[in-house]
Amino acid sequence: MSKITLHTLSSMKKAGEKFAVLTAYDACFSHLISSAGTEVILVGDSLGMVLQGNDSTLPVTVEEMAYHTQSVARGNQGSLIMADLPFMSYSTPEQAMDSSAALMQAGANMVKLEGGAWLSDTVSMLAERGIPVCAHLGLTPQTVNKLGGYRVQGRDTESAKQMLNDAVLLQDAGASIILLECVPSLLAEEITLALDIPVIGIGAGSDTDAQVLVMHDMLGLTPGRSPKFVKNFMQNADSIEAAISLYIKEVKDGTFPAQEHGFE
Ligand code: KIV
Repeated sequence: MSKITLHTLSSMKKAGEKFAVLTAYDACFSHLISSAGTEVILVGDSLGMVLQGNDSTLPVTVEEMAYHTQSVARGNQGSLIMADLPFMSYSTPEQAMDSSAALMQAGANMVKLEGGAWLSDTVSMLAERGIPVCAHLGLTPQTVNKLGGYRVQGRDTESAKQMLNDAVLLQDAGASIILLECVPSLLAEEITLALDIPVIGIGAGSDTDAQVLVMHDMLGLTPGRSPKFVKNFMQNADSIEAAISLYIKEVKDGTFPAQEHGFE
């Protein structure tokens, strides 16, 4: 696979070609996922739950994110690496600069942060200094305490309008990608059509430009009940490599997510 850049992703959006995103936290899975042709690897702060066993992403630090980003970068075979800025590492634009610098120096090609309009100055500051940003809207796990749980967002008219406005504002501020988590499928479609930049969805229906899943979820490794938007790709595959290839294929041909994985 030739090296994936933001230019590749934006050309894919223009051409109506979907791209696949998966999380990875180490060199081995980074190698596997990128060799299979996943366009973007997300070094998600979900590692706080999946690897560390916490009940939220809040305990994850910049140092831990940098450590895992370095490992992923060593295994990467050409995917674009996006790394999460963890909880409270971007409360001011200056703090966001320092935290992002640590992740970019560890091997990330871009950073992701969670939040809406209040982040537009931070996004501008990072983008102007050469750090591409993905803005995560909808269910933002770092604010789980304020949201009162892991719930679908944007279901009423006012919050849906707010999310659309935030997405446009963040694009105008310089964000390169928007990620929507647990958002009604129709709202995600509306936001995707309104933006020039690519939109990645998780629990956001089939009409976004790309899909992401936590790798452990799509391999059926996460203990307990899976969220509605997860599909276990190991059920129709006889190896991890085959499950990852099937995920990429189903994202690209629009088979995944099916209607049952989305929200109204
Ligand atoms: O941390 C993560 O893995 C994420 C995805 C769930 C989108 O942010």
